[in-house]
Amino acid sequence: MIDLRSDTVTRPTPEMRSAIAAAEVGDDVFGEDPTVADLETETADLLGKEAAVFVPSGHMGNQIAVYVHTRSGAEIWAPQQAHILGNEQGAASVLSRVLPRTFDSPDGVPPADVLHRWATGTEDIHRARPSLLCMENTLTGRVVPLEEQRRATAFAHEHGLRTHLDGARLWNAAVALDQEPAAVAAGFDTVSVCFSKGLGAPVGSALAGDAATIAQARRARKLLGGAMRQVGVLAAGARHALHQHRSRLVQDHDRAERLARFVTDNTQLSAVARTNMVLVTTPADSAQQLVAALETQGVRAVALGSDLVRLVLHLDIDDAKLDAATAGLHAAAKEI
Ligand SMILES: Cc1ncc(COP(=O)(O)O)c(C=O)c1O
Repeated sequence: MIDLRSDTVTRPTPEMRSAIAAAEVGDDVFGEDPTVADLETETADLLGKEAAVFVPSGHMGNQIAVYVHTRSGAEIWAPQQAHILGNEQGAASVLSRVLPRTFDSPDGVPPADVLHRWATGTEDIHRARPSLLCMENTLTGRVVPLEEQRRATAFAHEHGLRTHLDGARLWNAAVALDQEPAAVAAGFDTVSVCFSKGLGAPVGSALAGDAATIAQARRARKLLGGAMRQVGVLAAGARHALHQHRSRLVQDHDRAERLARFVTDNTQLSAVARTNMVLVTTPADSAQQLVAALETQGVRAVALGSDLVRLVLHLDIDDAKLDAATAGLHAAAKEI
């Protein structure tokens, strides 16, 4: 089976397993795990922030950010498609009791007129207090332009909001833009990043920001039950991924381009590549049909809507597997 459902399905490489086996560890709740400390320092440096905290999942990194930046009853602003709101079981409302306001924007950039409207009349007694602007880069594989990010974060700061970037796939954005990760993270008070997606580690994410905010985040991680003991074994996998697998993301992007071009040129379907993702548009209501036909061809994909199928390129897909997936897609497209 060629699994293109997500870049989270990768298995640790033999070299990563060796790094995990050799990890120096200590009790991280006492702050004594040297591998975690190294990972946190390296991640903070890469993102141009003062500090970072290792967390078990991207979900937890995001929700800790919401928790430390807001007060109960405050507004958080985010794109309609944002993972932090729509794919984390409503945790922002459950744990931080905030009021989500979503903006409609295909590339996740808050429209200027919406920002102005939402930032007006905030002293009105009827209004919840605006507190946090969240963005996501990449957003379903799409790279958010950095100048747009800067405009939005500057506006938010001028109006007293804090800013958080869900950078689960920030590494892909940085490679696609040929920029340092710190450039993608610039302007945000906190950034969450994942080691367990395109980078191919089995577990782990981090939240980075200024030292005071990350100190608060460490407390919040404990509150949520996310403080871990000899967790250097996981941090070692994450460090290996950070050192060895960042520059190879360009190969995933290139394979995504090739797959999308093949679909558009050789089937009745159309496809676009966005960093490591391929989004295939199917005839109305036939996305599930394409997913089922692909499964019989030995290719796994997910339907994102009634006429959209997503295939994700990752560490475990080499050129031979890409060729096999391409053949499977060609055959499956004839069945719908
Ligand atoms: C954009 C984005 N943010 C956050 C997450 C959450 O990451 P995790 O699965 O590690 O909780 C995901 C997971 O796929 C994601 O795609």
